[in-house]
Amino acid sequence: MHLLIPAAGIGRRMGSDRNKLLLSLRSQPLLSWTLLAAEASQQISWIGIIAQPSDWLDIKEILANVSLTKPTQLIAGGTTRQESVYNGLQALPGDAKQVLIHDGARCLATPELLDRCAVEIRHCSGLIAAIPVKDTIKVVDAALNIQSTPERRYLWAAQTPQAFDVEKLKQCHEQARRQAWEVTDDAALFEKCGLTVKIVEGEETNLKLTTPVDLAIAEFILQQRLQDVTT
Ligand code: CTP
Ligand code: MG
Repeated sequence: MHLLIPAAGIGRRMGSDRNKLLLSLRSQPLLSWTLLAAEASQQISWIGIIAQPSDWLDIKEILANVSLTKPTQLIAGGTTRQESVYNGLQALPGDAKQVLIHDGARCLATPELLDRCAVEIRHCSGLIAAIPVKDTIKVVDAALNIQSTPERRYLWAAQTPQAFDVEKLKQCHEQARRQAWEVTDDAALFEKCGLTVKIVEGEETNLKLTTPVDLAIAEFILQQRLQDVTT
């Protein structure tokens, strides 16, 4: 299974002066943890890292340190995540029938979750990892007045991995370009094209490291995992 890792953001909400994926988390760059999960996955056989060329030097250093055994390719990122994934899809080897897309910023996803998604996509054409939301979600207007309260039992928080039939996802991305659709995940493109996307139960610890507090929580989770292994 081919894996694309979008890693071409700037991490504005993290408030750092560099791409958040290069920040240190338990003495390894954040992206190393994502790559180690991909390396440990039994299903993934090829890794495409989508990153801004200005970060390539740093990423090559990370690659030298984690020494992956799987073929790995650097792909130039775009100005939005959507554009980055588009570039990733163009760079996939011709024999890639399905693809797994997993955000570099979700560095706590386990190899088991990657594997479950990779196995499941052989039986459908689109899926995402997601978990039931814990909070009640409000739809609000520009003046911050609540418009409605969707019933919580129908609400799931989208995560990555997301997995798709490559040809279908490419067609969705082409249609998005023609119609200037802007979305924050690939499932939304599939939905807009009228295609079915399945949910695979994700992981509560599979956080998208977005703000500084997420870094602190991730440190804690990794610490716990280390203790579980050593006790
Ligand atoms: N991403 C990407 N190309 C972009 C923007 C984002 O590949 N032009 C990637 C990020 O590197 C990240 C994932 O998409 O792994 C999810 O995006 P997000 O968490 O929003 O990261 P950033 O865009 O870097 O953060 P922010 O929105 O706070 O600037
Ligand atoms: Mg972003």
